[in-house]
Amino acid sequence: MSYKQQVANALHTALEQLGAADFSPQKVAEMLETPPNPQLGDLAFPCFQLAKTLRKAPPQIASELAGLVESRYLDKVEAVGPYVNCFLNRSLVTAEVIRTIAEQGPAYGSRNIGEGRNVPIDLSSPNIAKPFSMGHLRSTVIGNAIANILEKHGYRPVRINHLGDWGTQFGKLIVAYKLWGDEEKVKQEPIKELLALYVKFHEEAEKDPSLEEKGREWFKRLEDGDEEARKLWQWFRDESLKEFMKIYELLGVSFDSTHGEAFYNDKMDRVIRLLEEKNLLVESNGALVVNLDEYDMPPCLIKKSDGATLYATRDLAAALYRHETYDFAKALYVVGNEQRLHFQQIFRVLEKMGYEWAKEMYHIPFGMMLKDGKKMSTRKGQVVLLEEVLAQAITDVAKVIEEKNPTLANKEEVARQVGVGAVIFHDLKNYRLNDINFSWEEMLTFEGETGPYVQYTHARACSLLRKGGYQPGSPAFDLDAGALDSAEAWSVVTLLTAFPEVLDRAREQFDPSQVGKYVIDLAQAFNKYYANVRILAEDDRIKMSRLALVAAVVTVLREGLRLLGLAAPEEM
Ligand code: ARG
Repeated sequence: MSYKQQVANALHTALEQLGAADFSPQKVAEMLETPPNPQLGDLAFPCFQLAKTLRKAPPQIASELAGLVESRYLDKVEAVGPYVNCFLNRSLVTAEVIRTIAEQGPAYGSRNIGEGRNVPIDLSSPNIAKPFSMGHLRSTVIGNAIANILEKHGYRPVRINHLGDWGTQFGKLIVAYKLWGDEEKVKQEPIKELLALYVKFHEEAEKDPSLEEKGREWFKRLEDGDEEARKLWQWFRDESLKEFMKIYELLGVSFDSTHGEAFYNDKMDRVIRLLEEKNLLVESNGALVVNLDEYDMPPCLIKKSDGATLYATRDLAAALYRHETYDFAKALYVVGNEQRLHFQQIFRVLEKMGYEWAKEMYHIPFGMMLKDGKKMSTRKGQVVLLEEVLAQAITDVAKVIEEKNPTLANKEEVARQVGVGAVIFHDLKNYRLNDINFSWEEMLTFEGETGPYVQYTHARACSLLRKGGYQPGSPAFDLDAGALDSAEAWSVVTLLTAFPEVLDRAREQFDPSQVGKYVIDLAQAFNKYYANVRILAEDDRIKMSRLALVAAVVTVLREGLRLLGLAAPEEM
């Protein structure tokens, strides 16, 4: 139990004695504040809300309460005006958090909220034959981190790559390939070549509108299972996926399912039948739609006038499939903010169909990646290939390592972990809905709020443990808390105790940036401790006690980075 909760329990017991039993331990914990300066203690309990229950003035309540609070976690309790100020027994808190982390290791902060229930997470989901965009990168790293955090709290995340592998554009692509395509070129650089064909199709179609008609025909053939169309589509899909896999491998992300849109082809009739049965389908200009007037939303388009189904229809089929397959606790969609309306429509349609579980579906939107204030776009062949971004980051880090630590073992591996980590962290330290400005400098520096900074701090802490001959686990039980009596150590300790709460917030809000910001704070606090306290002291017990705190920092930084999807090399 956190010390905050311990203090809240003690306050609760005292409140019971005063006759305010309706203030539960949990409520009290929520009411606890951090005083504006340390002279006022570590925690303050405001008594305003009690005035009504107890029919007394808050300062009087505070002074009565202060006399009743008792806890071995508290050195001193003092009433100041309407507040009860609590001064922690810092040695006890310090010793406990160090011991807890030493005992639990990477499991520190784990909880069983999810009770093993499934949470399908729709993430990444790039479009076949198109470049993997910055938006897809954001979805991949945000979705993966959310999956890790949910898993830490007892859910079973199911990572689903809902590939954009269906739609009229594949008809166009087939036409373009048959007219101007070259097998060898596609094999060599599939995405680049297929994108070029697609762009060319649109240029030519402006001069010759009959191409559009041909595109529709070929898509129809594809939908009807025509062998040639199928084969080409399968080939485009395979080649594209091979390219995407390179990126996933670099990022260290894997999927439990790559059922894309095409997978739902034979599952859409059922959706349409269900909608019909429930009298939800209406005709509008020859198309079939579900009206969403009552939600102030435009209608959801289910079937076009030419009979073709749509993105939304496939998402409805996918939602039914996921519910039936996973019996989920929640279902998440990590997709850019520009699709907000689409998902609201899907969820509302499911609600209208009478599915209670639609309430447990969440769109998790995120902002854009900007470069010089503009959206990083992949249109018109002007491709910012993500693979190139990752490769560049790795090369840049490799240069820094070559300068700073040329004798480092497995340099390449570390350069990869840090380069890729820089890209991931650059994304995850920001609240997901904010737009991000893509900046090499900001991403790669070993100082400042970056992935490399946190990883470097972790490596530094590891090297300190090696130098000090620290054996993991052992000294935590013979700790000299006096050796850790400094403002710098205390900042580190309070951050360590906060890790579980940070994870709670991150889980509740689907917000990995809580963890991103936290590891920066912890790294900064650790570096102050490192700079101001002689950790490798003469006296062995003092040294080991100080190192025990370092070991706790290593464990938590490492686990925080893991949750975000970053490796934590022990040397760099
Ligand atoms: N392929 C889509 C795109 O790139 C994203 C798909 C998101 N997932 C979903 N179930 N609709 O815009």
